[in-house]
Amino acid sequence: MNDVDGQAGVRGRYVIVEGGEGVGKTTQVVALAQRLSEAGIDCEVVREPGGDPFAEAGRELLLGELERTAPAEVLAFNALRAQLLIAVIEPLLATGTWVLSDRGRLSTIAYQGHGAGADLAWTREICAMTVALCPPDVEVVLDLDPVVAAERRTMRGDDDRFERMDLAFHQRVAEAYRAEAALAGIEVVDAEGTPAEITDRLWRVVSPLL
Ligand SMILES: Nc1ncnc2c1ncn2[C@@H]1O[C@H](COP(=O)(O)OP(=O)(O)O)[C@@H](O)[C@H]1O
Ligand SMILES: [Mg+2]
Repeated sequence: MNDVDGQAGVRGRYVIVEGGEGVGKTTQVVALAQRLSEAGIDCEVVREPGGDPFAEAGRELLLGELERTAPAEVLAFNALRAQLLIAVIEPLLATGTWVLSDRGRLSTIAYQGHGAGADLAWTREICAMTVALCPPDVEVVLDLDPVVAAERRTMRGDDDRFERMDLAFHQRVAEAYRAEAALAGIEVVDAEGTPAEITDRLWRVVSPLL
């Protein structure tokens, strides 16, 4: 991922911020983008699912209420991920722009695998094949007690299909992130504290890529 593009210079970096609902992902990708801009780095924030008109239309479907099976959901999230990776992220990286993503493949493994019961080995494999289209430089998991995360979400107001799941589901997802991060050697960052404190912790993970 560190190859040099002849026309545009150094390739951008692709950073994924992960974690359950309300842990502070959206807050932190914006804060990281701000710090990177201050360091003179061009960067863009994207979210999964989403990223371009096709993937945003798919987001509506996936975050909506239509009944679906867990395997169908795994494939649909990965279809939208492929669109985002090929149509949006790869072209940005190629021009030297950094991409900060709000969610990625670990979300599918945590929510559709551990949370909704899709076969874990199959889900990991599908996700690995999709991610190979444009692998991230670093993934980091924000870890927060689901009770505290639920309080933060109550303050925020809006919610979707996944945010409305019960506390047991969110506990399962939080536990899944820790387990998958340990398996894959992915950094877990404590998401308790002020937003600035958490940005400092994330910066320690991201700044070595500069
Ligand atoms: N460190 C923090 N302490 C307290 N509240 C926070 C913190 N970080 C974010 N929030 C607030 O908590 C809510 C959820 O944060 P958000 O970034 O939307 O989480 P996520 O994108 O992971 O669901 C928002 O209202 C946000 O302003
Ligand atoms: Mg968010």
